[in-house]
Amino acid sequence: MDPSSGEQQDFQTWTKGPYKISTDPSLIPLHTLNDWFASDDLYWAQSLPLDALEHSLRNCLCFGLYHHSPEDESSRQFVGIARCITDRVTFAYITDVYVHPSHQGKGLGRWLVKCIGEATEEMPHLRRSMLFTMDWERSVPFYEQVLGMTVAECKKGEGMAMMMRKGRGYPKSLGG
Ligand SMILES: CC(C)(COP(=O)(O)OP(=O)(O)OC[C@H]1O[C@@H](n2cnc3c(N)ncnc32)[C@H](O)[C@@H]1OP(=O)(O)O)[C@@H](O)C(=O)NCCC(=O)NCCS
Repeated sequence: MDPSSGEQQDFQTWTKGPYKISTDPSLIPLHTLNDWFASDDLYWAQSLPLDALEHSLRNCLCFGLYHHSPEDESSRQFVGIARCITDRVTFAYITDVYVHPSHQGKGLGRWLVKCIGEATEEMPHLRRSMLFTMDWERSVPFYEQVLGMTVAECKKGEGMAMMMRKGRGYPKSLGG
């Protein structure tokens, strides 16, 4: 592979009524996403310098959720996102699953996550998808149901150790 050329990427899209999901990161409005990251809704995130945000989106598999007005197909309102940090071959880490409150409760969050499931199922050498969540009440059953994920229980010396180390960008709101 020529290291200077990068790999050609084919973007995927899914459509449901007036909603569309696209994996093309260039469609994502950076300022809007940064506002979401700064909000309490995405309590695990914080806003980023725009160049860092763009770099991060270019280097992951993004699932942007858009609403298209039935009167004007060319209109596009950014209403949700999910990101998969992945080498697109062996590993996928799911994060930043979000649907704007004005579009919640219509099955879009479930659809977004199902699309991640579809995209990762197309990776024949994938070893593992994983995620972290602190929301045991809602998120854990949600990912169990929608993606068939299981909680990796950690007992020292047994099974798999789910480990993490806080980085310099760990949100202060989480005690970083
Ligand atoms: C979680 C979230 C993406 C769901 O989006 P949505 O479009 O309203 O989802 P749907 O209409 O497809 O279904 C809602 C389901 O999500 C579940 N859910 C999981 N985590 C939730 C959360 N933090 N807040 C609300 N619902 C949540 C609900 O229990 C509900 O399940 P049910 O249909 O069995 O009652 C949305 O509520 C959101 O963006 N919340 C803030 C960000 C967040 O907490 N993300 C964590 C990802 S799980």
